[in-house]
Amino acid sequence: MKGIILAGGLGTRLHPLTKVTNKHLLPIYDKPMIHYPIQTLVNAGITDILLVTGGNSAGEFLRLLGNGKEFGLQHLNYAYQEGEGGIAAALALAEYFCAGDSMCIVLGDNIIERNVVAALRAYQRQNTGAKILLKEVKDPQRFGVPVLEGDRLIRIEEKPKEPKSPYAVTGIYFFDARVFEIIKTLRPSARGELEVTDVINNYLDRGELTWDLLEGWWSDAGTFASLRLVGNLVAETGANKL
Ligand code: DAU
Repeated sequence: MKGIILAGGLGTRLHPLTKVTNKHLLPIYDKPMIHYPIQTLVNAGITDILLVTGGNSAGEFLRLLGNGKEFGLQHLNYAYQEGEGGIAAALALAEYFCAGDSMCIVLGDNIIERNVVAALRAYQRQNTGAKILLKEVKDPQRFGVPVLEGDRLIRIEEKPKEPKSPYAVTGIYFFDARVFEIIKTLRPSARGELEVTDVINNYLDRGELTWDLLEGWWSDAGTFASLRLVGNLVAETGANKL
């Protein structure tokens, strides 16, 4: 199982904080944001990790993280995303690295309280297809939102004005290597990006998607409000607890 952290994009929602630096280098309480998704993968037992970055200050990741020794890693892999083509465009850069393996992807601005190892084991038993993790939130319209009929997932809607459930699709995804073929069929969305939601809906249409609820708190850190909230959560309760 490979681990991929997507930390590209321009972080324009956090201007001027991100005018000269990369969003994922900003502090969340006592650590740079990028530390948290790396710890999420390491705590789940994943040690073969690719960090996809881009935009401002990409070279600073190397200076900050080196070979990942601080996380007990022997090696860290890096890729560079030109422009801001979307989450699925950033993921496409991982095809060579994955070399046919399944992967756990964590968005670089997603921070969690607990450990995703149980979901990872469940995905390994599933062996193929995809798995997503859902979390109940107060503001689902900011996220990918599942349409559910009982326990049955019907589809995912990206940032719907009228969310059909109180859940967000968190930025922690398990995909098999066929994801790279799916990405090649995608067209840019209205916001000009290749959307991870379209990837998920593709697995769903084939009947190859499962989902679990994520335990513990979860937050992105891509807006001023969420950046502040998640800093407080980390200070009060700690993140990435084993
Ligand atoms: O946080 C979870 C949400 O993330 C999901 O519920 C949504 O379905 C998904 O689309 C995404 O929503 P956002 O619009 O909040 O994503 P954002 O553009 O902020 O990107 C999240 C991370 O993905 C960002 O921290 C770095 C990475 N990324 C994003 C883009 C657009 C890249 O690596 N490259 C990119 O081009």
